[in-house]
Amino acid sequence: MPVRFGEPRLIKNRRNAKRIRTAVAVAVLFALTVFIFRRSDAAEGAGTAEAGKAVFEKNCVGCHGKNGEGLGPKSKLPNFKNPATMKSRSDKDVFDKITNGGKGTGMPAWGSLINEKDRWNLVAYIRSLSYRNK
Ligand code: HEC
Repeated sequence: MPVRFGEPRLIKNRRNAKRIRTAVAVAVLFALTVFIFRRSDAAEGAGTAEAGKAVFEKNCVGCHGKNGEGLGPKSKLPNFKNPATMKSRSDKDVFDKITNGGKGTGMPAWGSLINEKDRWNLVAYIRSLSYRNK
């Protein structure tokens, strides 16, 4: 027998469907908001040098030297204070290098160890070193 319009079961199903749609919409909005805020939190170029300095001193000075100057002309380590070296690198280059490391060069990949925001802070700090020494 076909279901008549207005039959109680059908009305209940429709109400449920509406509830589910609302719940999905709320979930999507929530996910979007979180996504947007996370993005702006770790946006390219949004790092601060002061915050980066602390992360650098904790993780990087062992190899890159106290002031990021490397270990002299004969070492393979870049001199972050040399504007000529750093001019050819975009912020994204520096960020990617920190994230992925050097693959066999001795430069570790920090992607899983240092969060995205702090990696941008490191970029800002490294930038500040060569700008200051122009
Ligand atoms: C175990 C030693 C070691 C540590 C620790 C280390 N690095 Fe490096 N890093 C290297 C070496 C070696 C190179 C040069 C070879 C290369 O570019 O892969 C390098 C290169 C780089 C470069 C590329 C510079 C260019 O020439 O463009 C960046 C940027 C960098 N390191 C940032 C960092 C930051 C930030 C940290 C701390 C979170 C860090 N490194 C910690 C060894 C290290």
